[in-house]
Amino acid sequence: MSRRSRTVLLVTVIAALSSATLAQAQPQSGIVRPTFEPSAPSRELGSQLFAGNCASCHGIGGTGIKSPRPGAGDILGAGPSLRNVGALSADFYLRMGFMPLASFHDQPGPEQERVLFSDKEVRSLIGYVASLGSGPAIPNPDPGAGNLSEGQSMFLSHCAGCHQIEGRGGFVTGAEVPPLQNVAATRIAEAVRIGPYLMPRFSTKQISDAQLNSIVKYVLSTNRPDNRGGWSIGNLGPIPEGLVAWWIGAPLLVISCRMVGRRRRRP
Ligand code: HEC
Ligand code: HEC
Repeated sequence: MSRRSRTVLLVTVIAALSSATLAQAQPQSGIVRPTFEPSAPSRELGSQLFAGNCASCHGIGGTGIKSPRPGAGDILGAGPSLRNVGALSADFYLRMGFMPLASFHDQPGPEQERVLFSDKEVRSLIGYVASLGSGPAIPNPDPGAGNLSEGQSMFLSHCAGCHQIEGRGGFVTGAEVPPLQNVAATRIAEAVRIGPYLMPRFSTKQISDAQLNSIVKYVLSTNRPDNRGGWSIGNLGPIPEGLVAWWIGAPLLVISCRMVGRRRRRP
């Protein structure tokens, strides 16, 4: 290899390597940010971030877009009005990493979870969405004021059908039901009032704020369930525990019956 072609090769390799680092330094998705971000959260920052990242689906000023229409980059956008969803819904959807959706065909859910905004940006967006109408504020549940046994019985009647009695999650037709361990009190209260995806929405008539405190207290208590004695199989709830009884207990029963039977035959 001549000296010249070696130099050319070296330059090409360096160029390729540095463009790889440049590509990595790009944000992981197309979040649009103003060139200058103030140091504190503000409604102004919220409105700029909204215009760049949300308006293509939710419309200018959050009025909603019913039939899909092309926005920036000719990507089709559509989404519900955010006029009266309030800080409650914005806090939940943004902190769950559900928004912005990559495509309006997507269903917000655990697979989409990725929070692409900083805490300052999230607060700014929440403030902006809240200012669009008169929606509910971020709830402030007080589990200390709740009653554990009331919480457990409310959870049994309203939530356990999907989340299981110990809140360990499971499946319902069409959705994975998340486990509720290590979910913060505020998020539990938000989920109850919003009813994300297939989860029903509970009004204050169905579950009062005082009862919600009890439910939150019960859900938080499942983070460290006291062991009920016996053989712990991860507090999976009555159905899996019953299954274990059948799969292990039943064969043992058969075996011992046979042994007893055999012993009888001998004099
Ligand atoms: C690609 C389209 C798209 C983009 C971009 C998008 N959204 Fe959404 N958004 C939706 C759709 C569709 C729904 C309804 C989802 C559902 O509830 O099943 C939704 C729901 C919401 C909700 C819940 C509304 C309610 O009824 O409680 C909030 C809040 C929200 N979006 C905020 C935002 C914010 C803030 C941004 C920008 C950071 C954003 N969205 C970007 C499509 C989008
Ligand atoms: C019909 C089934 C169903 C019922 C009943 C139900 N949920 Fe859910 N819940 C779900 C599903 C499905 C999700 C996931 C939603 C998503 O992916 O957007 C969920 C999500 C949640 C979350 C968010 C979890 C997280 O990862 O942050 C909380 C908290 C929650 N539920 C609490 C409750 C409570 C408390 C009740 C009773 C008052 C209840 N749910 C009743 C199905 C249900």
